[in-house]
Amino acid sequence: MSSRSGYPGFFITGAGTDVGKTIVCAGLLRKLSRQGRGVAVKPVQTGCERIGDKWRAPDLELWRRASFSLSAPPELYCPVCLELPASPHLAAALAGFTIDAEDLSAAVEAKLRVHPWAIVEGAGGPLTPITHAFTILDLILRLNLPVLLVVDNRLGAINSSLLSLQALRQAGASVLGMVFNETSPRRDELEEHIRRDNRRTITKLGNIPILAEIPHIFDFSADNPAHWEQIDRAWENFPRPLQPSGGTA
Ligand SMILES: Nc1ncnc2c1ncn2[C@@H]1O[C@H](COP(=O)(O)OP(=O)(O)OP(=O)(O)O)[C@@H](O)[C@H]1O
Ligand SMILES: [Mg+2]
Repeated sequence: MSSRSGYPGFFITGAGTDVGKTIVCAGLLRKLSRQGRGVAVKPVQTGCERIGDKWRAPDLELWRRASFSLSAPPELYCPVCLELPASPHLAAALAGFTIDAEDLSAAVEAKLRVHPWAIVEGAGGPLTPITHAFTILDLILRLNLPVLLVVDNRLGAINSSLLSLQALRQAGASVLGMVFNETSPRRDELEEHIRRDNRRTITKLGNIPILAEIPHIFDFSADNPAHWEQIDRAWENFPRPLQPSGGTA
């Protein structure tokens, strides 16, 4: 699991926002927690709630609930919490400041240095701006962690995932594979067909493997242990160690 940077872990990005990155990270942290106490990092979280002098970050909250049965629950870390549910650069601007990319990267690196494993979840997709001069992709390159790309399997996934893959690879990121997720239920036969074809077409055109597939969980609740068991099953065959996949997408 060691990356070229020497930090053991994964950077989870998505082919868009709301594709299920946090649920995917939660499943992965449940799996990795069996190897000891690591850290799950959300470098920038927007849409946070201020309670007194503390911030409540929704993605960390889901991870906390995913950790309920773990003997070595991960440290949860979010250095930049912003109230507005918008792109980080905009949420920060509307709060009256610009995120310091150097400070942010150094703070995350400090956590990666002292844990046996780390999962870092980006905001939105690879080209989401943290500032006008520093994107999620720049953070991926700075941390030099291997990337897992989360794809919401629905109409439109071919274009969004291949574009994300292209941007990641062209910049020199090490992409290990995709995690397919289903945020919505399959409604009819056509949708079944589209989702089956998405799997075939994206893996072929992107020359990239699917490393885990999370099913749609009807009425998902983070407080329902049966739902976490379902997610755990999706990670059973997650291969390790992993090599980056080649390709020209
Ligand atoms: N497999 C699934 N089954 C049921 N619901 C899901 C599934 N995956 C995600 N969802 C739901 O879809 C929504 C978006 O998921 P999630 O918050 O994990 O996305 P995200 O990519 O992390 O978003 P962000 O970019 O805001 O961090 C949530 O309401 C989540 O509960
Ligand atoms: Mg999230």
